[in-house]
Amino acid sequence: MAIKSKKLRVLVLGGDGYLGWPTAMYFSNRGHEVAVVDNFNKRKWEAEVDAEPLMPIPSLQERIRIWKKTTGKKIKMYVGDLCHERFVARVFDEFKPDTIIHFGEQPSAPFSMIGNERAVETQVNNVVGNLNVIFAMKRSTPNAHLVKLGTMGEYGTPNIDIEEGWLDITHKGRRDRLLFPKKPGSFYHLSKVHDSHNLEFACRTWDLAVTDLNQGVVYGIETEETKMAPGLHTSFHYDDIFGTALNRFCVQAVAGLPITPYGKGGQKRGFLNIVDTLRCVELAALHPAKKGEFRVFNQFTEVFSVNELAETVKEAAKKMNIKATVKHIKNPRKEQEEHYYKPVHTGLPKLGLKPHLLSDVLVESMIAKIIEHKDHIEEEIIMPRVVWEKKKN
Ligand SMILES: NC(=O)c1ccc[n+]([C@@H]2O[C@H](COP(=O)([O-])OP(=O)(O)OC[C@H]3O[C@@H](n4cnc5c(N)ncnc54)[C@H](O)[C@@H]3O)[C@@H](O)[C@H]2O)c1
Repeated sequence: MAIKSKKLRVLVLGGDGYLGWPTAMYFSNRGHEVAVVDNFNKRKWEAEVDAEPLMPIPSLQERIRIWKKTTGKKIKMYVGDLCHERFVARVFDEFKPDTIIHFGEQPSAPFSMIGNERAVETQVNNVVGNLNVIFAMKRSTPNAHLVKLGTMGEYGTPNIDIEEGWLDITHKGRRDRLLFPKKPGSFYHLSKVHDSHNLEFACRTWDLAVTDLNQGVVYGIETEETKMAPGLHTSFHYDDIFGTALNRFCVQAVAGLPITPYGKGGQKRGFLNIVDTLRCVELAALHPAKKGEFRVFNQFTEVFSVNELAETVKEAAKKMNIKATVKHIKNPRKEQEEHYYKPVHTGLPKLGLKPHLLSDVLVESMIAKIIEHKDHIEEEIIMPRVVWEKKKN
């Protein structure tokens, strides 16, 4: 499908984050008008739970200055909390986006499972922020298109094929098309389920146009734009709270620690490269949902089990003369460790997505980057500190 060359006014919510910052640069680099919103919640949470990224990240102000100096392009910045209704309304009234890309949420399952306070904080932050966004859209930019980041974790691991958001169902002789049933595995994933329901309701009731991207686990830290100048890089987390399994395994290999899959390691998930995240978001933005449509794409390119990831890292490390070992540890999460997993993901390829698959070369380049920053590795933040079930006395 040919990509339209339309220039958009893109509002990136959560523009200081792992995905938000590369997305802001990506759209700016392609000539779109870009503004970012962030309240630096993530930097605060990182400090509170001792989970700083491996490479220090310049302030958002500094990143925007470096971007302007490097490319001559401006990115507008709004500092404020999506949970403050008046702040969100002001941003929409002033910037008048035609495309909103919403990354601005608490993104970690273990963070939401620390206890009562963090579960409430996660759900209030995510659900209230998302509600303020749809109310601001309705009032200020009713014809805009919202591209909202959800997660494949909303579905969980049901024993049936996972469709793309919707399920055609026949029950007691009657037919309907309903949202696919969800069986998420943490209070974080539940916040995304609540978001999806609120969004579907807003499309049905107020004629808003929304694309919900049920994204898999993203890996990689380099995009065309992050490489343009020092200081434009994005965050790399390897701790138990914000780090993903692949990142943790690569850091463990470099630090000479065993690679530690949780439980049996047969847990399967969808994955994608960060460059494909940017492309998926672009495809969704350039081919918007129709007014009144709640469109869902399952945004991942490959499925791996945790054991497959561990073996991939071990083999890549071996090629770099690092001898890594794999040691299974008790699973801190409550999840199926061997299960059926077959999610559909045809919507984005139909729009033109050409996947960048996980290769040994990419894993080796991640390991090489970690070696450059080896002295900053904090070994004590890698192993799980949060458990889904408290130990019985
Ligand atoms: N990274 C992944 O592998 C992945 C996978 C699936 C889904 N997602 C989703 O994609 C989105 C982005 O993920 P990420 O990894 O870039 O996370 P991130 O934490 O790096 O970025 C989120 C940004 O949003 C900001 N933010 C949070 N709450 C806010 C609020 N109330 N007001 C203003 N700003 C706020 C944070 O400060 C942060 O900069 C999240 O919604 C996440 O759930 C991520």
